[in-house]
Amino acid sequence: MTEPVAYVNGQWGPLAQARVPVLDRGFLLADGVYEVIPAYAGRMLRADEHLARLERSLAEVRMGNPHTRAQWLDLLGRLIRENGGGDKMVYLQVTRGAAAGRGHPFPENLPPTVVAFCQPLPLPSAEMREDGVGVIAVPDIRWSRCDIKAIALLPNLLATQAAKEQGCNEALLVRDDRVTEGASSNVFAVLDGTVATPPKNNEILPGVTRDLLLELLRGAGVPVQERPLGLAELRRADEVWITSSTREVLAVARVDGQPVGAGRPGPLHARAWALFQDYKRRVLI
Ligand code: PDD
Repeated sequence: MTEPVAYVNGQWGPLAQARVPVLDRGFLLADGVYEVIPAYAGRMLRADEHLARLERSLAEVRMGNPHTRAQWLDLLGRLIRENGGGDKMVYLQVTRGAAAGRGHPFPENLPPTVVAFCQPLPLPSAEMREDGVGVIAVPDIRWSRCDIKAIALLPNLLATQAAKEQGCNEALLVRDDRVTEGASSNVFAVLDGTVATPPKNNEILPGVTRDLLLELLRGAGVPVQERPLGLAELRRADEVWITSSTREVLAVARVDGQPVGAGRPGPLHARAWALFQDYKRRVLI
């Protein structure tokens, strides 16, 4: 294994030695946004959609985009090459930069901090894919701008850790008896042959994998609905899935220890998974 290479503000070097100043507002105040883009055999999937979401996140927190779309694609392409290609989770983060001291107001004319690195893509194991995973339901204690991919992730981390401690793969977040999304994924339920997922609004991150899957399901003639999902509804669904850039589309076998449907990945999950794999083959090869 060659040493992972990172990008920090125009400089390339070993990830383990990559540094930003203590005064960086990302470190002090979580004043920044990020993206996670999957790459297969060295090529990014839906890079334009991820970069469009980055632009939107930056605009919503009133930060400029330090790079054009073409510059981002060059930078991330080089990052993947420098790291030997293959299946990668590409991570990028932009913060409001490092000022002369700590303060809440936005400093003027501060250059942003741009960091990018990658790791092996942590796709679900064959066992998780074949058997499905367990999830827990926990209260959604996040702010009301979950549509922004902000680096401030404490509520998500607490939920993820609670899931892990209960031997589960993900925590589903519940607001007013509705399941909004997972701590790091979007959620789908199959009820009476229809696939339902919560609508895109301020309560969820507009997942790139979510949108892609909806597009593929619609294209295949599978009935889909974007609508609020009650927790009670989810508990009696025939199938539940979660989607993300690192999980693709993963079946949920248990919610709070209770089986979902037959307690195994269902037939529509198999269809969705096959559509996703087929799409990857079509666009990446
Ligand atoms: N998380 N919802 C939340 C809260 C997320 O953090 C993520 C992704 C998603 C799925 O979005 P996408 O399909 O675009 O990956 C939904 C990434 C993978 C992470 O933080 O590691």
